[in-house]
Amino acid sequence: KRYVILISGRGSNMEALLGAALPGTCAAVISNRPDAAGLAYAAGRGIPAIAIDHRGFASREEFDAALAAEIERHAPDLVLLAGFMRILTDGFVRRFEGRLLNIHPSLLPAFPGVKTHAQALAAGVRLHGCSVHFVTPALDGGPIIAQAAVPVRADDDEATLGQRVLVEEHLIYPRVARWFLEGRLHLVDGRARLAGEAT
Ligand code: GRF
Repeated sequence: KRYVILISGRGSNMEALLGAALPGTCAAVISNRPDAAGLAYAAGRGIPAIAIDHRGFASREEFDAALAAEIERHAPDLVLLAGFMRILTDGFVRRFEGRLLNIHPSLLPAFPGVKTHAQALAAGVRLHGCSVHFVTPALDGGPIIAQAAVPVRADDDEATLGQRVLVEEHLIYPRVARWFLEGRLHLVDGRARLAGEAT
C-alpha cells in the first residue's frame, strides 16, 4: 500500500507516521508552504518532498486541482492530512473520500476549526484531546475513527495543553493509519467501520 502525507508546517505528526513502520510506503510528502519544516525532514529520509505554494493560484479550485493532480501522480491508497492548514474544496474531498484522513486537536464535535486549545480553555472543559476522522465536505465534521482524551489542568495555557494533546496525536494517528493500510478500516454509509469491532 502507498500513502501520501499533506502538511503545512512543523510536521511532528508526519514524523510520528514515518517513524511508526507502517505497512506501506510513504510515496510523497506535500506541503502548501515551501518553508514547512517537515519538508526538509521528509527529504532527509529520502521521501519525495514537494511544495505546491497555494499563493501561486488564483482560486481555491485551481490550487486543489493542482494538489489533486500531484497526489494522483503517486497513486496512493491513503492520503493523510497532518497539520495541513488549508480548507479543501468539496470537489477535492469527494475525489479522495474514503481514503482521506485528518487529525484534529480537539475532542470533536467540540471545537472544530482553529485555536482549539484556546477554545477549550475558554470553555472551561476538564477534558480535551484529539480526534482522527475521515474527511468529508463538513469541516472537521467527518466520521470519527479514534479519539484520545487528556485532562485540562488549572494552570494550563495553550502551550502546555497543546503539548499534552500532541503526545496523544502522535499515538493515535499512526494507529489509525495502520488500521487503514491493513485493510481493516472503511468508510461505510457515512460511518467509520473497523473490522473486528462490534457493530
Ligand atoms: C497538530 O496539532 C494537528 O492536529 C493540527 O495542527 C497541528 C500540526 O502539528 N491540525 P504538526 O505539523 O503535525 O507538528
